[in-house]
Amino acid sequence: MSNPSLLILPGDGIGPEVMAEVRKIIDWFGANKGLTFDVTEDLVGGAAYDKHGTPLHDDTMAKAQEVDAVLLGAVGGPKYDGLDFSVKPERGLLRLRKEMDLYANLRPAQCFDALADFSSLKKDVVAGLDIMIVRELTSGIYFGEPRGIFEEGNERVGINTQRYTESEIERVARSAFELAKRRGNKVCSMEKANVMESGILWREVVQKVHDEEYADVELSHMYADAGAMQLCRWPKQFDVIVTDNLFGDLLSDAAAMLTGSLGMLPSASLGAPMANGRPKALYEPVHGSAPDIAGQGKANPCACILSFAMALRYSFDQGENADLLEKAVEKVLADGVRTADLLQAEGETPASTADMGDAVIAALADLS
Ligand code: IPM
Ligand code: MG
Repeated sequence: MSNPSLLILPGDGIGPEVMAEVRKIIDWFGANKGLTFDVTEDLVGGAAYDKHGTPLHDDTMAKAQEVDAVLLGAVGGPKYDGLDFSVKPERGLLRLRKEMDLYANLRPAQCFDALADFSSLKKDVVAGLDIMIVRELTSGIYFGEPRGIFEEGNERVGINTQRYTESEIERVARSAFELAKRRGNKVCSMEKANVMESGILWREVVQKVHDEEYADVELSHMYADAGAMQLCRWPKQFDVIVTDNLFGDLLSDAAAMLTGSLGMLPSASLGAPMANGRPKALYEPVHGSAPDIAGQGKANPCACILSFAMALRYSFDQGENADLLEKAVEKVLADGVRTADLLQAEGETPASTADMGDAVIAALADLS
């Protein structure tokens, strides 16, 4: 049997440096766990634009469709701010999501014990927090037509369209219920059914999928604005949150910050099952390209490392090795290793990106 395949797209900003640490970890699993991947690396975002004049070359897109999983660093940076919208770095990522049909975006917000003091919220509000946001990723206002900037009379009008079909809502609702069954068995669905027809349909369809297929999972509905408020007030009331593309973008950033450390959070974007039964998948840290610290060895590689852990779990059926890697990250934090984003006191010397990667590898060795 051939090795599982992995396409690595480091991208822009801190993407390449955090990905370099993941490569070390992939090598560690190869040398110590007999887990060998066929790894290919390619360009995305601004890096692809610089070389090819497009943020995602067709060959790269084709490769992404073939591999078992894609691991992406980050895209974007001020250098590309002036580019035409159609070739902005973000378009490369959006094309991957759309053409691979990665409709379920899993964004865990987990508070690591060692970092509970780090949140802007009180410790008892966030300690032990473990929620999962399931964000619809291939439809809604990000992709709906009509869209554009048009002339209307003597001025311009900017238009985007929120649009959801029943089947698009059904499939992401199923992803959320399936996940909930393996966690706290609770789903809260968020929309704005009070002001949007797409929200009314969203609520109806989620309720129907629940009643017909997942009646034993606890389901509640919340308006997304109230949901944002509840996330800050008492986030531990939630287990799985399912919501649309735009609300999910906002709510997942808010949830991420509850944990105090955007540099720690991974994500998985999953599509329909492939021939091998595993979903099409792309894994990426929730943080962006952080151009202000790029190239300085300051970035925290943990979010990208934990994204690889999610790949082990969801794409490669390696739940035990995923647990091992997550425990290694937890141990490193408990031992007090801190990249610059995790420092609280002035005058402390931060661990570099490579120090953090090396510490995770040492912890992997200790724990296995
Ligand atoms: C995210 C990002 C992206 C989004 C950008 C980079 C296109 O904010 O993954 O949350 O808006 O989806
Ligand atoms: Mg976002």
